[in-house]
Amino acid sequence: MPISAPEPLAPHHDLSGFDCGKTQLNNWLKNHARRNDEKGFTRVMVVCEGTRVIGYYGLAPTGVPGPSMPRSIRTGQAPDPIPCILFGQLAVDVAHNGKGIGSSLLRDALQRCVDGAAAIGGRAVVVRAIDHEAEVYWQSNGFIPAIDDPSILFRSVVDIAAWLKASAG
Ligand SMILES: CC(C)(COP(=O)(O)OP(=O)(O)OC[C@H]1O[C@@H](n2cnc3c(N)ncnc32)[C@H](O)[C@@H]1OP(=O)(O)O)[C@@H](O)C(=O)NCCC(=O)NCCS
Repeated sequence: MPISAPEPLAPHHDLSGFDCGKTQLNNWLKNHARRNDEKGFTRVMVVCEGTRVIGYYGLAPTGVPGPSMPRSIRTGQAPDPIPCILFGQLAVDVAHNGKGIGSSLLRDALQRCVDGAAAIGGRAVVVRAIDHEAEVYWQSNGFIPAIDDPSILFRSVVDIAAWLKASAG
């Protein structure tokens, strides 16, 4: 069955069988994604096989306390909190790992962040790694750990925009 491009979470999407191997991210999709999306807290995008969701991510606006942001990203006289975009969730069903779905969701999310920041501002994208494996994943994608907490990582929107442009196929 063909796999869809990333699309907004909608009522017909089936979330029930989703399993990325990490309970927290499975539960968030099944128990919180719809409500958070409906209320406007988080925008949730999904990739599907038929109506079955096999990958997703969530984005939300956020503010980050200045002192925790790496100096290379904070720069100048930044407001406090610093306006950022929270890349709160990224997960792919284990049955579909290694097919490039995670990379395609990552790219789609980061492009959305760049477009959003161009429209309303936002200095950096911030992620919360749920474990050490996730920290390694984000670092391998150019994210820099917070000064006081390695599970919170940042990448500046300027840097992301340059990377998207340079790596466009
Ligand atoms: C991380 C995850 C999203 C990757 O999805 P995927 O569809 O299997 O990834 P892709 O097939 O697009 O592969 C992307 C690249 O990331 C690499 N990668 C995958 N998991 C990785 C990890 N934990 N650390 C470092 N690199 C990783 C792959 O080797 C691949 O590298 P390559 O392009 O050089 O071959 C998926 O494994 C997942 O959902 N994990 C559980 C949830 C999670 O930890 N999410 C991220 C943090 S919140």
